[in-house]
Amino acid sequence: MHSLAIDPTCLGATGLGIISHLAIFIHGEWHLRVPALFEIYSLLVISILSTSYLVGSYATGLFSSIIIYRRYFHRLRHFPGPPLAAITKLWHVYKCMDSRNHLVLGELFKRYGPVIRTGPEELTIIDPAIPDVVGGLKSQFTRAPFYDIFLPDLTMGATRSVADHDARRRVWDRGFSPKALVVYEERIIQYAELLASQIESIALDNASSDSGGEAVINATDWFAWFSFDVMGEFAFSTSFQMLQDKKWHEKIRLLVDGFAMLGMASPVPWLAQLGKSIRPRPALAKDWYSLLQWSKECMDQRLEMKGDRPDVSQWLIEAYLKNGSQEADRPWLSGDATALVVAGSGTVSSVLAFAFYELVQDPSQQDKLLKEIQDIDIYDRVQLQRCTHLTAFINETLRLHPPVPTGGLRVTPKSGITFNDMYIPGGTIIVAPKYNIQRLESSYEKADQFIPERWTTQQDMVKDSRGFTPFSQGKYGCIGKSLAMTEMRFVIALLLKKFELKLP
Ligand code: HEM
Repeated sequence: MHSLAIDPTCLGATGLGIISHLAIFIHGEWHLRVPALFEIYSLLVISILSTSYLVGSYATGLFSSIIIYRRYFHRLRHFPGPPLAAITKLWHVYKCMDSRNHLVLGELFKRYGPVIRTGPEELTIIDPAIPDVVGGLKSQFTRAPFYDIFLPDLTMGATRSVADHDARRRVWDRGFSPKALVVYEERIIQYAELLASQIESIALDNASSDSGGEAVINATDWFAWFSFDVMGEFAFSTSFQMLQDKKWHEKIRLLVDGFAMLGMASPVPWLAQLGKSIRPRPALAKDWYSLLQWSKECMDQRLEMKGDRPDVSQWLIEAYLKNGSQEADRPWLSGDATALVVAGSGTVSSVLAFAFYELVQDPSQQDKLLKEIQDIDIYDRVQLQRCTHLTAFINETLRLHPPVPTGGLRVTPKSGITFNDMYIPGGTIIVAPKYNIQRLESSYEKADQFIPERWTTQQDMVKDSRGFTPFSQGKYGCIGKSLAMTEMRFVIALLLKKFELKLP
């Protein structure tokens, strides 16, 4: 017979691990303290390397306590979901490597139903009633830890402080008043015409060749160049010159790639903080910081510009100059301008690309739209707004291809909420994925099909429109909605008038 001898020091270390979890780590948020913890633990590991079994015992105690607690004792334990999701969000990073979280969530919905535990502290709810609960006027929900991913940079679009957000939003609101929007329109028209003339010049160059005057273009790139150039004007009164140069601006490419990487790390905000804190900086973090430096320089140049500039930044700068504590305000100024570029470009360009994708799939939609705009002055925003099919066409694109498909994470108020007779405790992260909610068969007939008429002549095809919130709503809802709609209406109308669209 063998006897089992347990080293009391080892047992003590395991116990210490369990106590660390139950007494310390179980409380509050830790993602921002991960870099410091990483340093402390690394030092510990080095200093007691000679007795590394102690480290192993401590880690065993800590992590087994975390796993057992999250799986069997946590307040969300009754909600269905993948077993690994209850333990760590790292499973989600792995699942979303190809940036297709919307499809991952769709599969989970089929398997587990409308309320799914997708993280230790997180529920994903795919129900048309949830957007209003989360973002309605009376909502007490706050932003989730995901938004800390941008720290230490400051911007209205990501701050989790309600007071900071509300104060900044009051400043931003002035830049998006109906009066201000009229001024911006001229710039949109100017860039949309440049977009059209560049495409035209490609077609003319091809006129003598075999392609017989047709321009084969990568619409995704062209719409991105257009929308980033426009936003460069709104943020810094400077064009990024991408339409003119017919190629990506080096820093904008970094921005797009950087956001794709951040997106992947978004389920585990602590990983992004760790990545940013490592010295020497890894290549990706270096790119990110060079980008931030560049946007700071763009804002420095904008601050030097004399006279009135018809851009959004003039309102932010005015508030900055009035404010006594300019030093403290400066990071907000650069952060907000960069956020403006990001929020206003990727979104509009993705909707335009999908809109034209749908147009080439179904040429009858081109005919319908052309018929509607043929006798109006498309340079008149009010006349374009009255085109009901055009608006329906954009809405249907936003329904099927929302540019913020799974984002907008929020945290339930301390007292918790009751949703569909189900109690959800306070401090729970709620994901209300627009992509999946806007494709629910229970809300839309032939939900996966592109049918703009469901918003006009066939309204019975919309059974429940509560879940249609591509711009979100409430205090954190999109400030650029009107501007975006004006931009998209005009670009679609202009290009349709000028070109016949088809797949190559
Ligand atoms: C099709 C176009 C667009 C769509 C679908 C869209 C959608 C959204 C959504 C869903 C949010 C909420 C995000 C969250 O909860 O984290 C948001 C926020 C925001 N959007 Fe848009 N957006 C569009 C265009 C624009 C444009 C053109 C601008 C600027 C000119 C803009 C500026 C912003 C800003 C600044 C916020 C943050 C608001 C806040 O923090 O209070 N968006 N947008």
